[in-house]
Amino acid sequence: MMGRLPFIAGNWKMNKTVGEALDLVRQLKASISKVEGVEVAVAPPFTALYAVQKELEGTTIKLAAQNLFYEEKGAYTGEISPMMLKEIGCHYVIIGHSERRQFFGETDETVNRRIEAALGQGLKVIFCIGETLKEREEGRTFAVVERQVERGLRKFREMEVKGIVIAYEPVWAIGTGKTATPEQAEEVHRFIRGRLEKLYSREIAEGIRIQYGGSVTPENIKGLMSLENIDGALVGGASLKAETFSKIVRFKEM
Ligand code: PGA
Repeated sequence: MMGRLPFIAGNWKMNKTVGEALDLVRQLKASISKVEGVEVAVAPPFTALYAVQKELEGTTIKLAAQNLFYEEKGAYTGEISPMMLKEIGCHYVIIGHSERRQFFGETDETVNRRIEAALGQGLKVIFCIGETLKEREEGRTFAVVERQVERGLRKFREMEVKGIVIAYEPVWAIGTGKTATPEQAEEVHRFIRGRLEKLYSREIAEGIRIQYGGSVTPENIKGLMSLENIDGALVGGASLKAETFSKIVRFKEM
């Protein structure tokens, strides 16, 4: 894997009250805090971020937010700024998740602005891309992913893209139980790395981690992680239970 540190992140989506979030994180601390050679992050909903961060203090598990708004502050009812996330100890922020694109009008352009704002505050970004089933069936997977990468990263220089992790999540695999086969995933991951090399340099492309997301489970993680261009996973459903998420984090022991 060219020395890229595997990165497993749990995207809790709109799940877990503060109490439930703390329960889960306490269990995770017990089961994964000693695992080495893999970076781990959890992305609770906004309301639980602060409490979870307090609970994570002194561990290597990192805190991620699921979204942010690109303005610094002001009259944007219902939004959260990069600075607010930074202040409470967020390390990562997920940007451009397909559910945001599908249900909340997020576009490549707003994703680009959000990434810029996040990086500007020193937050690291998990930048999500992926094609829909229709796009795949029409043979447009590579074109869609290419457009998302180019527009999402527009204007960023090499220094900036170093703060980005890409999550390739085929929309048809999210929450459906239909994982892409390791070969299908690897094919797109290799393509993305090729695009990054064209946009930046070989060195940058080799350094950027590309996670796979979409129905990742303890059963399929090992096969996915064995591939050259798959550097981790963004896990939804299976991150909501300590038992399954821990197994995924401990994929090397399987
Ligand atoms: P899933 O979600 O693991 O439940 O398919 C992944 C994601 O949306 O990040």
